[in-house]
Amino acid sequence: MATIKEIAKMAGVSTATVSKILNGKDQYISEATRQKVLEIVEREGYIPNGIAKSLKMRRTKTIGIIVPDVMNLFFSELARGVEDAAEKKGYSVILCNSDNKEVKEEKYLNVLQEKMVDGIIMTAAEDSMNKAIKRCKTPMVLVDRDIELDMSVGRITVNNEEGAYKATKFLIERGCKDIGFISSEKKNKPSAERLSGYIKALKDHGLNVDDRKIFLQNFTIDSGYNGVMALLEKTNIDGIFCGNDLIAIGAIQALKEKKIKVPEKVKVIGFDDISIAQFIDPPLTTIRQPIYKLGEEAVNMLVAIIEKRDINRNIVLETELVERRSC
Ligand code: RIB
Repeated sequence: MATIKEIAKMAGVSTATVSKILNGKDQYISEATRQKVLEIVEREGYIPNGIAKSLKMRRTKTIGIIVPDVMNLFFSELARGVEDAAEKKGYSVILCNSDNKEVKEEKYLNVLQEKMVDGIIMTAAEDSMNKAIKRCKTPMVLVDRDIELDMSVGRITVNNEEGAYKATKFLIERGCKDIGFISSEKKNKPSAERLSGYIKALKDHGLNVDDRKIFLQNFTIDSGYNGVMALLEKTNIDGIFCGNDLIAIGAIQALKEKKIKVPEKVKVIGFDDISIAQFIDPPLTTIRQPIYKLGEEAVNMLVAIIEKRDINRNIVLETELVERRSC
């Protein structure tokens, strides 16, 4: 195994030059010198061949994905779509969970850049001010939660407002007149767009928008449970549009505790169509997001950006209403 000094001697450069190249801090070193040193490094087996190859190719064939909550099946199904598509393209995946917190999101953005991933796919944390994202120089695709950025990134989302409109309209067509909305209070686009779709559908059908029927907290089961308890304190409801399926699960749990029959007394519709939605009691009527496809398309877009191919960097996928037995 050659030493750094012997590598430097063989290449006719200083040891400082060799270490700059091995640490990726070689922006002021000629490409010819880089390649010469890395050839010797690989031949002499100074560092594991995989790392030598990555440095030479300036590619690690690895992508990172950062999601807010791996326990929410929406994100684990999204990660599954990413991993399958990445594997087909010869990429490995590093999965990071930000706990929906900007501090962890920033940590993982740094870790992934230190590991020299070729690209990053990310659903931003809801409290993120996006400072670390704006500093990131690695190719990036934002999935699901689009955020205002003045840098060129890929974006793959769904038409949240149209999906929410469909959900609320469906409740109205099922005879609901006192429709509640429970979702995330955070400033993320999906929740804001779902609220606007709910409001637009009420107005288009001559129903009042009543703040007492709106409960905004988190995209969690607890929020669905708390939301029903809070709404029932203030007002009467005969239908609830839930900002995601976890909220719908919590809402149904609370209604059952209150001995309120679903859908006979209160109809419930969710958003996402995570894999367990069909197995809860009653099976959940919901707005299906093409979750797996969101992951696949994110990889296709990211690899095109890595390979500097000119592609459409803003894709909006459609949702569909899946009718089951909760309304
Ligand atoms: O369930 C998690 C929610 O957060 C999903 O609806 C998804 O759109 C994400 O924004």
